[in-house]
Amino acid sequence: MINQFLATAPGKVNLHLGVGDERADGYHDLVTVFQSVDLWETVRLSVDTRAPRVTQGSVVTGMTTSFGVKRPAEDIDTPANLAWRAVDAVVDAYRHTHGLVELPRVSIEVEKNVFVAGGMAGGSADAAAALLAANAFVEHNGGVPLGRDVITNLAKSLGADVPFCLMGGTALGKGRGDELVEMMSRGHYWWVLINPSVPLSTGEAFSRLDDMRHNDASLVPRLTTTRLAQALVTGEPRAVARALHNDLQPVAVAMRPQLGPLIDAADNCGLRAIVSGSGPTVALLCEDEEDALNARDRIKAAFHSYEVVCAAGPTTGARQILEY
Ligand code: C5P
Repeated sequence: MINQFLATAPGKVNLHLGVGDERADGYHDLVTVFQSVDLWETVRLSVDTRAPRVTQGSVVTGMTTSFGVKRPAEDIDTPANLAWRAVDAVVDAYRHTHGLVELPRVSIEVEKNVFVAGGMAGGSADAAAALLAANAFVEHNGGVPLGRDVITNLAKSLGADVPFCLMGGTALGKGRGDELVEMMSRGHYWWVLINPSVPLSTGEAFSRLDDMRHNDASLVPRLTTTRLAQALVTGEPRAVARALHNDLQPVAVAMRPQLGPLIDAADNCGLRAIVSGSGPTVALLCEDEEDALNARDRIKAAFHSYEVVCAAGPTTGARQILEY
């Protein structure tokens, strides 16, 4: 009898984030380039053998998160958590196609290594890993897993970054950022990731950009990625550094002024520093591993209270790692 289902998914940085117009659904059209980095979120589903099996309602009895990164002030172990919602979504989709199968109940454990609310898709990675773990769980209890297309659609319904966390690697994202095409990329890229721990809401950052664009004609959407695409094919970190771009960076700096000096200081320690996604994480691209380790130590010494880690990308996407 298998009682545990485990999966893991990586965080990401945006090498390019071009933000177009707001759409009717409240999202913005994006042209973005994602790269997954080797900070992994792990989701474990453990069958609760004492709880009665259920044919309807949530199979989840509860969740616990352990933090390899700074813990947020609020309790995140609730049914609103994306990992919890992902398990419910898989079970609902499974029941929709296979009828009211009797399922055991499970508890969820998440191990977080991606900064919380940092602009690195940590919550989305939890959702991606939870989708795979839950799919292994329903397969074990019903005989057939959901197909990749169904899982991808569930990922889209959970959040704009979840499909990329499933896919990993280097990808061009259009639409809400969830219409993905793999991009050619050579080599490995070493990053220092710095979290000033001043959480920034993604939704607020996007709407603030709309406001700022009304008053500042220089904040035009940058929707071409040709230079970055060429740089990625060379495999040269210096070329990629020159092509990094984020339309949300001026917004993040306006909303969290401490980011200005942090970006300047990081720039002096490596090739180029940029806000990741909607921030507040600052991602510093370095020449190689040794430079990244040195830069990490210098930044740590200058900014004691910030979280600073090294990571390399691209990696694989989410994967199931074990069941037992
Ligand atoms: O998809 P997710 O829940 O991560 O997005 C959080 C918020 O960020 C959305 O509710 C929306 O306000 C904003 N967003 C956006 N355009 C995108 C992605 C996110 O406006 N392409």
